[in-house]
Amino acid sequence: MLNWDEEITPAASVAPGMALPPGGAMLGTQPFLAPRAAENAAPAFAAPKPQAPAQKMSERRVNAADKRIINGQTDVNQLVPFKYKWAWEKYLATCANHWMPQEVNMTRDIALWKDPNGLTEEERRIVKRNLGFFVTADSLAANNIVLGTYRHITAPECRQFLLRQAFEEAIHTHAYQYIVESLGLDEGEIFNAYHEVPAIRAKDEFLIPFIDAIMDPHFHTGTPEADQTLLKSLIVFACLMEGLFFYVGFTQILALGRQNKMTGAAEQYQYILRDESMHCNFGIDLINQLKLENPQLWTPAFKAEVKELFLTAVELEYRYAEDTMPRGVLGLNASMFKGYLRYIANRRATQIGLEALFPHEENPFPWMSEMIDLKKERNFFETRVIEYQSGGALSWD
Ligand SMILES: [Fe+2]
Ligand SMILES: [Fe+2]
Repeated sequence: MLNWDEEITPAASVAPGMALPPGGAMLGTQPFLAPRAAENAAPAFAAPKPQAPAQKMSERRVNAADKRIINGQTDVNQLVPFKYKWAWEKYLATCANHWMPQEVNMTRDIALWKDPNGLTEEERRIVKRNLGFFVTADSLAANNIVLGTYRHITAPECRQFLLRQAFEEAIHTHAYQYIVESLGLDEGEIFNAYHEVPAIRAKDEFLIPFIDAIMDPHFHTGTPEADQTLLKSLIVFACLMEGLFFYVGFTQILALGRQNKMTGAAEQYQYILRDESMHCNFGIDLINQLKLENPQLWTPAFKAEVKELFLTAVELEYRYAEDTMPRGVLGLNASMFKGYLRYIANRRATQIGLEALFPHEENPFPWMSEMIDLKKERNFFETRVIEYQSGGALSWD
């Protein structure tokens, strides 16, 4: 059941012999040029035949009102006319925030790390545990987008954002690798932490089934069950992975930076945090638009299941906080994170239309909100934007 003002082209417009899966979506992804080529058996650039009266929506000029987040029938190769302007605007904003890890000076971090008295054992543990989670987390994130989410989303504006997001995940993996290399850490230890450190492994084991579900080549949207599977995966990815599992680690490294320690790494994390908050916000907009277009998916049973996932994620991230900070360090301790995680979980839940899970939690780290607020930052990005724009202008002399 779909709730639109306008009628959706029925499956009858599909060429004979091209059966659609339940729900009408072609392979659950998008109508592409292949159906036309199959029908005509003609070279790709041959003059088109006169159009039949019952023309497929994928072959018509795109009407923005026909676009859908999932199970759409419009041509995904046509970015305009825009329907989802919020996605396009977020794409432009992420491009304006472009940065590269090598631009950050790591000299002070290297000196501090090599100095036997530079950091305490607790602080070194935090840095290594952090990198142990993040060096693989962003690869999981990138794979989830490229091999999973992307093919199920039929709104080209959202695909455009996802392409940019995938590249940013690559930049983040690069940044973590760059820190590991700069500090001369044991690569085997750091890159295998997600196999070998239980608190990290538990978080990834929670995430991976939701990534695998939508990466399965046999998985297609178009039935209520499949659409709910995709929606659940989007919620886990945006609200719980990017929106919750990253936050203990970010807070710890930024707390080091606030004490003038590991300032290069802290600067890298600050840019990553800014990217991730944009990814999270985009994901939440995507989820809410999908809900709006498919209200039948948001059942009481589904909401209850999502709520359980939130509770599990909070518990897993809290265990990670305990593992990374067995004793108090940097003015932080694990129990402070219990309140923080509950505060963030409330925010994520309400952002997607669920009730707050832990009412009345306060934010114990208000300075983290300042770190995320673009306007309060020094003008690193303003400088970078100008440089990238001028660097990208080609001269033909
Ligand atoms: Fe990332
Ligand atoms: Fe991300």
